Amino acid sequence: MRAQDAATALFEQLTGRAPDGVWSAPGRVNLIGEHTDYNDGFVLPFAIPHRTYAAVGMREDGRIRVASTFADDAPVEIAVDELTAFFPTPTGEHPAVAEWAAYPLGVAWALQLAGAAGRGVDIAIASDVPVGAGLSSSAAIEGATASALNDLYNAGFDRTALARIGRRAENEAVGAPTGIMDQMASMLGEPDAAIFLDCRTLDANLVSVGIAEAGLEILILDTRVQHSHSTGGYRERRESCERGAAIMGVPALRDVSVGDLGRAEELMDDVTFRRVRHIVTENRRVLDTVTTLRERGARAIGDLLVASHASMRDDFEISVPELDTAVEAALSAGAIGARMTGGGFGGSAIALIERDSVQAVSDAVTAAFAASGFAPPHTFTVTPAAGARRDA
Ligand code: GLA
Repeated sequence: MRAQDAATALFEQLTGRAPDGVWSAPGRVNLIGEHTDYNDGFVLPFAIPHRTYAAVGMREDGRIRVASTFADDAPVEIAVDELTAFFPTPTGEHPAVAEWAAYPLGVAWALQLAGAAGRGVDIAIASDVPVGAGLSSSAAIEGATASALNDLYNAGFDRTALARIGRRAENEAVGAPTGIMDQMASMLGEPDAAIFLDCRTLDANLVSVGIAEAGLEILILDTRVQHSHSTGGYRERRESCERGAAIMGVPALRDVSVGDLGRAEELMDDVTFRRVRHIVTENRRVLDTVTTLRERGARAIGDLLVASHASMRDDFEISVPELDTAVEAALSAGAIGARMTGGGFGGSAIALIERDSVQAVSDAVTAAFAASGFAPPHTFTVTPAAGARRDA
C-alpha cells in the first residue's frame, strides 16, 4: 500500500472516521557539506522522493494521540496540556515514550512553545523513507507533523519557522543534538534543485543540479548499518568543533578559513585539529561545489565529492568500513564521484554515476560487500523532489 493510503487507513482504523487532511514531508540526501550545519556553515542537500505521511484530525477533548505503521507499539496518547511537563528530556536521554512517538509529540510541544494554541488531535503516520539509512526519516516525520498542525491550529508559521520547530523537537524532545540541515531540506525541497543553505543566516538558495540533463544519476548505497545521533560519536564531534572554535576565539568554525589552519594546528591537539580541518575544508568544498555546478555542471563535481569522503574518513573519522567499501567499489566501477552522506557511523553513501551504469555500479558494490562479509546493501536512485506539502 502507498504510504499516503496507509496513513489514511491507519487513521480510519484508529478513529472510525476520515482524517481532516493528509500532509507529507520528504527525506533528504546531502550532496555535500557534512557536520557543517551546527558550525554555522554551508550545506547542499536535496529532498528525495521518499516521503512520510501524516493523516490528522482534530479532537474535542484536548488530547493528542499518535500512531504509526512502522512501529509495533500501541498508539501513544497524552493531554495537550501535559506536553510541557513531558518535554524536554535531559539531554541525551530518551523520553518516556517510544522514540518514534517523541518526534510528532515533540513537534506539538515545540509548536506550542513557539506560540501556537495547541488543541487535541489524532495523528496517524506512515512512511516510505527508509529508517536508519541516513536519509532523515526523522526530519520527514517532523516536517509532516509540523505542516499538519500548523494548518489545523491556524498557526501561520512559514517553512523556515517550521524547520526550526522540527529541529527543536529533535534536539530537546528526542535528545539528538543535530543541526538544522535535515529539517530545512525537508521543508524547502524543490524538484530538480539542491538547497544551498547558509546555516548561520538560514538564507536558502536553490541550485539546479542538472543531473538528468547531464545524463547522470545519483545512486544511494544504503549500507544497512544502523546509526543513531542521540548518543556517542555525533555528540563527541560536535563538542570537538565547539572546543576548536573556542581555541580560535570565534563564535563558530564557520569563522575559520583555510588560511587559518596553520595557526589552528599550532594551537590544538591533533584530534581537535583534524576535526576542525574537516569542517573548514568542507565549508570550502560546499562553496566550490555550488560554483562548479553553476559554471561547469554536475559532471565536474566528482573530485569534490571524493575529497569530502576522504576528509570524513581520515579527519572527522565518522565513516565505517561498509561506507568506505561502498565508496571505493562505486569509484572502481566508474562512478564520477562518491561519498558517505549524513551524520555517519552507518547509513548511506551516494554515488554520482552515468545513467547507463546504475546496474553495473550496484552490482560492483553488492559484490564488494559480499567479498568483505557484509550484509547486502540496498541500492536505489533518487532525484530532487518537492518539500513538505498538504496532499489531501
Ligand atoms: C545529521 C544531522 C544534521 C547534520 C548531519 C551531518 O543528519 O541531523 O543536522 O549535522 O547529520 O551533516
